[in-house]
Amino acid sequence: MNGVERYERSRSLFERAAKVIPGGIYGSKAPGFLVPGAYPYYIESTKGCRMRDADGNEYIDYLCGYGSQIVGYGNERVDGPALERASRGDLLDQPAPVMVDLAERLVASVEGSSWAVFMKNGTDSTTLAYSLARVRTEKPMAIMAAGAYHGAANWCGANPFAALASDREGVLSFRYNDLGGLERLFAENRGRIACLFLTPYHHPTFKPQELPDPALYETARRLCDAEGALLVMDDIRGNFRLHSRGSHVRFGAKPDLWCMGKALANGYPISALLGAEGTRATANSFFITGTYWMSAVPMVAAMATMDEMERLGGVPRLESLGLLLKEGLESAGRESGFGARISGPPAIPFLTFDEDPDLYLNQRFGAAMARRGVFLHPHHNWFISLAHGEDDIAETVSRAREAFAAMRAGRE
Ligand SMILES: Cc1ncc(COP(=O)(O)O)c(C=O)c1O
Repeated sequence: MNGVERYERSRSLFERAAKVIPGGIYGSKAPGFLVPGAYPYYIESTKGCRMRDADGNEYIDYLCGYGSQIVGYGNERVDGPALERASRGDLLDQPAPVMVDLAERLVASVEGSSWAVFMKNGTDSTTLAYSLARVRTEKPMAIMAAGAYHGAANWCGANPFAALASDREGVLSFRYNDLGGLERLFAENRGRIACLFLTPYHHPTFKPQELPDPALYETARRLCDAEGALLVMDDIRGNFRLHSRGSHVRFGAKPDLWCMGKALANGYPISALLGAEGTRATANSFFITGTYWMSAVPMVAAMATMDEMERLGGVPRLESLGLLLKEGLESAGRESGFGARISGPPAIPFLTFDEDPDLYLNQRFGAAMARRGVFLHPHHNWFISLAHGEDDIAETVSRAREAFAAMRAGRE
C-alpha cells in the first residue's frame, strides 16, 4: 500500500489544518521534520507502547509522546488517581495539598536539590532558570553547547529557530565536550557569565548523540565556581530515564539548578525547576506564576508516575530494554551490510548510519519502519518506556531486518 492510500485520512485532515493552523502541524511533529507522506500526521489512540493513527494503522511507538510517556500510554495506576483528582477539581484558587507532597518528594529524590517550583512546559523551566541565574549573579550571559535544545524561545540562542540577532545576545556557545573551548569562553567573558546550561549528555537533533567527556562536569563546576556562575542541568529529556536521583548523578555533575519535564507525569502537563540551597533566596524573591502552573491533576499524576516507575523496575529495566533494542537493530543492519549504529544512553536511543551525513538512509529507514508499523523518528532521538517488553523489541527488530533487506535490495 503506498503512502497516499495508507494515510488518506491523515492527509485530508492535514489539508484542512493547513488552512487554519500555521504550518498545519507545527514543531517537531510537522511533516517536513519527519518525512512528508511517509508517516501518519494524526494519531487517534494509544495504549501501553502501541498506537493507532487516524487511518487505523497500528504502530509500536518509540517516540513515547516525545519522551513524556515513561510507564506507558493509558497506564491505569497513573490515570486512575489523576481522574479521581479531576473529579474534585484541577485548577483551583489555591494549590491542592498534593503540591507540597510532590515538592517534598522531588527534593528528597533529586540529589543536591532543596526546593522545587512547578510549571507546564520545559521552556517555562529553562526560561525561569535563565532569569534566576541572571538576577542571582547580576551578569547577563548564558553559555550553551552548540546544537543543544533548551526550548522554543528566542533567548535559547543555540537552537536553530528564527530570531533577531539581538534576541540571542545573551547566549554564547561552545562545541560540546571541547573543554579547552569552554575554558576560553569563560576566560574571554570574565565577569559576564550568569550560567552554563548543559543537558546530562548531548542530544543534538539530526546528529548522533554524545556522552559527556569524563572531565566535562568537573571542568564545568570549576569554571562556574571561579566565575560565580550557576550550573543549570537541563534534564528535561533525560529525567527518570537515566538515574532515579537525577541524570546528573549518573555523570557525576553537581548542578545549582535542575530543569525537569517530559516524563515527570507520564504525559500530564507539568514541568519543574529545582534548586540547590544557595539559590533559595533568589527564588524566594521571584514572582513565579502562570495561570495553570498549580493545577493539581498533573501533580497527582507525577506522584503516581514515580510509584509506577519503581513498581515496574525503573531505570535498570529501561536500560536493559534499550540494550536489547540496540543490539538487535545494529546486528539486523549488519546482516544487510549497513553500518547502523545506536548512539546515546540505551533508554534514549538514536540510530544513524555510517557515512550518511545528510540522513538520507535514516529517512528511508524511518519510512520503511513506519510502513511496517514501527514509529521511529529519522531526525530526533527515540525513547523507551516501561510499557515496552522483550516481545515488542523482538517484533521491532524483525521488522527492521525486513526494512534493511528491502533497502539493500533497492525496493525502499
Ligand atoms: C533538553 C530539553 N530542554 C528543553 C525542552 C523544551 O521543553 P518543552 O518542549 O516542554 O517546552 C526540551 C524539549 O524537547 C528538551 O528536550
